[in-house]
Amino acid sequence: MIDTYGCMLCHNASCSKACGIIEPDKILRSLYFDNEEVVRNNMPDKLLCSGCDGRCQAACPKNIDIKSIICSLERKENRKEIDYDCLKTDFCGIPMENPFMLSSSVVASTYDMCARAFEAGWGGVCFKTVCLMDINEASPRFSAIKGDNNRIIGFKNIEQLSDHSLTENISIFKELKTNYPDKFLLVSIMGRDEAEWAFLAEEISKSGADALELNFSCPNMTEGNTGSDVGQIPELVERYTRVVKEHTNLPVIAKLTPNVTHIEESADAAIRGGADGVAAINTIKSLIEVDIDPKDGIFNSSIGGYSGKAVKPIALRFIAELGKDENLNSKHISAMGGIETWRDALEFIVLGADSVQITTAVMEYGYRIIDDLKDGLAIYLAGHGYDSVKEIKKSTLEGVVSTEQLDREHMIYPKFIRENCLGCQRCYISCLDGGHQAISIKEGKPILDPAKCVGCHLCILVCPNKAIVSSDIKVKKTN
Ligand SMILES: Cc1cc2nc3c(=O)[nH]c(=O)nc-3n(C[C@H](O)[C@H](O)[C@H](O)COP(=O)(O)O)c2cc1C
Repeated sequence: MIDTYGCMLCHNASCSKACGIIEPDKILRSLYFDNEEVVRNNMPDKLLCSGCDGRCQAACPKNIDIKSIICSLERKENRKEIDYDCLKTDFCGIPMENPFMLSSSVVASTYDMCARAFEAGWGGVCFKTVCLMDINEASPRFSAIKGDNNRIIGFKNIEQLSDHSLTENISIFKELKTNYPDKFLLVSIMGRDEAEWAFLAEEISKSGADALELNFSCPNMTEGNTGSDVGQIPELVERYTRVVKEHTNLPVIAKLTPNVTHIEESADAAIRGGADGVAAINTIKSLIEVDIDPKDGIFNSSIGGYSGKAVKPIALRFIAELGKDENLNSKHISAMGGIETWRDALEFIVLGADSVQITTAVMEYGYRIIDDLKDGLAIYLAGHGYDSVKEIKKSTLEGVVSTEQLDREHMIYPKFIRENCLGCQRCYISCLDGGHQAISIKEGKPILDPAKCVGCHLCILVCPNKAIVSSDIKVKKTN
């Protein structure tokens, strides 16, 4: 990925205002979201940057050398207009313009927000969970673990459900479907008992919503026996799903909790109850920022739901397991958990997802991320000869193997690219204290002892300057 040197992804960016010819902010954003290919594809025939005085850099609050970044990119040969038709898909038979949806949360909680997301190009929204409880949120309600450039890596929330009345929400759904009939409207619901699930299902089904998502997974509920408490008990998942199916003609998917060991047990229960599919994952119970010095007796450390980039590996694991669950063959799988880029979305689709949903990345960057999600996925599909996103569902699921199936007879050595090495010796330290003492230092740079190397690749992971890569050579282990 190309370094964007701490670009802040400004809204209404001064670099683009200063340029007036191309949109440097859009280019940097695409690079940030792993879309070099799209930038190269969309480059104008004649890029005028080289003759320019670099006014984008002068206008940038961080004085980033934007011109050099843009000039380093080569225009793609055989460029094509992006054709978005390949993104068309369906949700239990209902057409969707593309598989990208806002997931149920604050990002899809008012008419105006959903309308703006639709205008921006999202294929659908899953509206913030509708309930019959009084919702009284805590403040503040978010915390995060940050990475480089202050980027959010993991996000914790203690938010509950929609605080609008049922009547208010129903009028929002009616208006959304009147004004955006071709956009997909999934509505998340949660009841406290069978009567509430039945009532919500009946009422929302009259609102124009396209489908229902059953929230068996919110980890932040104050009322017992709701949210993830339900999702952890397959009998309840089955019972409540059945009740909902008896009170609606709409497709129904069950949103499952990751706070379980075997997600298939709750998925299968939902299918037995009549669900048309499942959604996963909701947030993972977590604790960030332990309050070590509470002021005035106020404790703010509370367990909440974890989401964002950090949870993607966990979400992928669950989607792979759902993808392999034969009871879900022909059922809809809607995936979420840490999706930020088109490549993240692709990974979920090749493991079995039909649609993908996003919250945390939208909270951090806004609805505008849809441009790079759509462009990146469409260009990938076209470049690999696929006519439709549906063709790649489960395409690499077989590659997810169990630990017994792994090749334990061979090893792959790391390869050192000496010209990239800056001599920090991080690989040496890690191999010494966390590996197999296979690296020594000669003239300030690492040397590998093949007799000691076990091919674990820790050195590749810790190198800060891409000076160590995997070699192509697979050798038979000697011992
Ligand atoms: C602030 C916030 C509020 C949320 N509210 C809901 C909700 O009302 N209903 C629900 O089913 N999931 C809710 N979620 C979970 C998200 O829909 C999603 O499952 C989860 O955040 C993982 O996706 P992400 O990593 O893209 O955020 C919420 C998440 C966040 C961060």
